[in-house]
Amino acid sequence: MRSIKSLYVLGAAHVIGALGLSSTPIYTLSTDSHFAFVLEEYLALSNAGGASTGEVLRAASQIVPGDFESWYSEFKFLADALHTKATSIDSKRFPVSAREAYFRASSYYRAADFYLHGNQSDPRINTLWNSALADFDAATSLLPIPPIRKNLTANGFTIPIIYFPAQPQASANGHHGRQPSVKTPTVIVGTGYDGNQEALYHTVGRSILERGWNYVSYEGPGQPTVRRQQNAGFIDNWWDVVSPIVDYIETRDDVDTKKIALAGLSFGGILAPRAASREHRLSAVLAIDGLMNLQKTINLGDQLTAIFKSGNKTVFDKVMTSVMNNSSMPTNLRWGIAQGTWAFNTTSPFEWYTGLGKVTAEADTLANVTSPVLVAEGEHDTIAPGQAVSMYETLGDLATYNLFRTELGAGEHCQLGAEAQLAQVSLDWLLDTWDKVQIPKNTTGGTY
Ligand SMILES: *[C@@H]1O[C@H](CO)[C@@H](O)[C@H](O)[C@H]1NC(C)=O
Ligand SMILES: *[C@@H]1O[C@H](CO)[C@@H](O)[C@H](O)[C@H]1NC(C)=O
Ligand SMILES: *[C@@H]1O[C@H](CO)[C@@H](O)[C@H](O)[C@H]1NC(C)=O
Ligand SMILES: *[C@@H]1O[C@H](CO)[C@@H](O)[C@H](O)[C@H]1NC(C)=O
Ligand SMILES: *[C@@H]1O[C@H](CO)[C@@H](O)[C@H](O)[C@H]1NC(C)=O
Ligand SMILES: *[C@@H]1O[C@H](CO)[C@@H](O)[C@H](O)[C@H]1NC(C)=O
Ligand SMILES: *[C@@H]1O[C@H](CO)[C@@H](O)[C@H](O)[C@H]1NC(C)=O
Ligand SMILES: *[C@@H]1O[C@H](CO)[C@@H](O)[C@H](O)[C@H]1NC(C)=O
Repeated sequence: MRSIKSLYVLGAAHVIGALGLSSTPIYTLSTDSHFAFVLEEYLALSNAGGASTGEVLRAASQIVPGDFESWYSEFKFLADALHTKATSIDSKRFPVSAREAYFRASSYYRAADFYLHGNQSDPRINTLWNSALADFDAATSLLPIPPIRKNLTANGFTIPIIYFPAQPQASANGHHGRQPSVKTPTVIVGTGYDGNQEALYHTVGRSILERGWNYVSYEGPGQPTVRRQQNAGFIDNWWDVVSPIVDYIETRDDVDTKKIALAGLSFGGILAPRAASREHRLSAVLAIDGLMNLQKTINLGDQLTAIFKSGNKTVFDKVMTSVMNNSSMPTNLRWGIAQGTWAFNTTSPFEWYTGLGKVTAEADTLANVTSPVLVAEGEHDTIAPGQAVSMYETLGDLATYNLFRTELGAGEHCQLGAEAQLAQVSLDWLLDTWDKVQIPKNTTGGTY
C-alpha cells in the first residue's frame, strides 16, 4: 500500500480539479484561486450595500495568497474601522450613513471568519460572529421598516429567521401604495454550505423587497449561526427546518398564503427542493443553482475513494486532516475539509463526507416535489457544476431551466456579481408562476 503521504498528495491533485477553481473567465483578485472566489463573493455584496468595491479591492491587494491569518487581519482591520465609524455617527440625524457603515462592518466581520474553521477551538469563530450579528442588527434597525428576528422552535433545534415585511412602494402618483396587513406574496430564502442569512439580504433580499414582497431569510443546522449557538451540524431532514417557517408565516396577516416561495442558494439548491419534497404548502421553489448531490462533485481520487468505501475511518481521517493542517496544500482543499467538518459538527472528515452524501435531492426525493421549480445554472460554475440539467430533466414538467451566461458576467456559481440578472430572471419567473402565465421549459433563449 502507498504511504499516507503519497496518498494524500494524489488525493489532493484530484480534489483540486474537483473543488477546483484553477481557471476562471472572470477577473480574479488573488493568485490563490479560492481566495479569488471568496473575494469575488464579498465584492459582489457591493451591488446592494453589503460591501464597497474600494474597500474589498484594497483588502485584496494586501492579502497574501494562501495565508489565512493575513486574510483574517485585512478583513478584521476593515471591519473594526467601519464599526468604529458607524458607532461614531449620530444615527438619529444620519440614519442612512450609520446603516450603511454597520452593514459593511458586519460583512467584513463575517469575511474575517471565513478561513478560521480548521481549528474549531479558535475563539475568534464566535467573537467575530457576535460582532457581525450585532452590526447587522444595528443596520437593519435603521431601515424604514425594520425586520423582525425570531427563533422558531423545531424538532430538537431552533431556527433563526429574519422577517422583512414588504417595504412601502412608491406608486405612480408618488404615494406609498402599501397598506399594513395587505396580504402579500412571500419569498423564503435559505443559504448553502458556507453562506449566511445576513449576506442574503444583499444578494437577493433587497431585490425581493423592491418587488413589493415579504422576504424571509433563515438558517438551519450546519449553517453559521445555528452551528455556533446550538452546536448543530447539517441534517438530512431539511423539511423539519422549513415547515416551522411556513407555519409561522401562515399566522401572519400580511402574507398571501397561496404565494409562498422557497429559494435556496448554492448547497441550498439541494436543500430547498429537498424540503419541498415533504413541505407542500410552497407554491414555487427556486434552486439557485440546481444541485442533486454535493458529495459527488468532490472527487477525492481513486485511492482515497477506495479507503472511504472500505470504511477505514482512521486512515481516511488521518489523510484528510493532514491535508487540512498543511499550509503548503492548496487553499480549496484545506478550506473544504475544515469547513465541511465544522459545518457537520464533527472533527472527522469521514463523518463529514458520509453525512454530505445523505443530504441530496436525487430522483427519489424530487419525485415527491409538487410545485414548479426554477432550476438555474451558471455557465461557468466551478464550485458545484454539472447537475442542473439532470435535476431539470428529472423534475419533468414541473421544472423551468435557465442558463446564466459567462459572456454577460453571470456564469459564476450562484451568478455571483450578476445579482441584478439573477433577480430579474428568477423573480420574473416567480411572478409569472404565481400569475399562472405560460412559461417555456427552457428559458435560456431569452424568455427572461
Ligand atoms: C489538525 O489540526 C487540528 C486542530 O487544528 C488537530 O486537532 C488535529 O489533530 C490535526 N491533525 C493532524 C493529522 O495533524
Ligand atoms: C486552536 O486554537 C486554540 C485556541 O486559540 C489554541 O489554544 C490551540 O493551540 C489551537 N490549536 C492548533 C492545533 O493550532
Ligand atoms: C435566538 O437565540 C439566540 C441563542 O440563544 C439568542 O442569542 C437570540 O437573542 C435569540 N433571538 C431572539 C430574537 O429571540
Ligand atoms: C456537536 O458535537 C459535540 C461534540 O462531539 C457534541 O457534544 C454535540 O452533542 C453535538 N451537537 C449536536 C446538536 O448533536
Ligand atoms: C485501515 O488501514 C490501515 C492501513 O492500511 C490498517 O492498518 C488498519 O488495520 C485498517 N483499519 C481497518 C478498520 O480496516
Ligand atoms: C505538506 O505538503 C507539502 C506539499 O505537498 C509536502 O511536501 C509536505 O511534506 C507536507 N507536510 C506535512 C507535514 O505533511
Ligand atoms: C416521498 O413521500 C412519501 C410520502 O410522504 C414518503 O413515504 C417517502 O419516504 C418520500 N420519499 C423520499 C425519498 O423522501
Ligand atoms: C436550452 O436551450 C438552449 C438554446 O436556447 C440550448 O442550447 C440548450 O441546450 C437547452 N438546454 C436544455 C437543458 O434543454
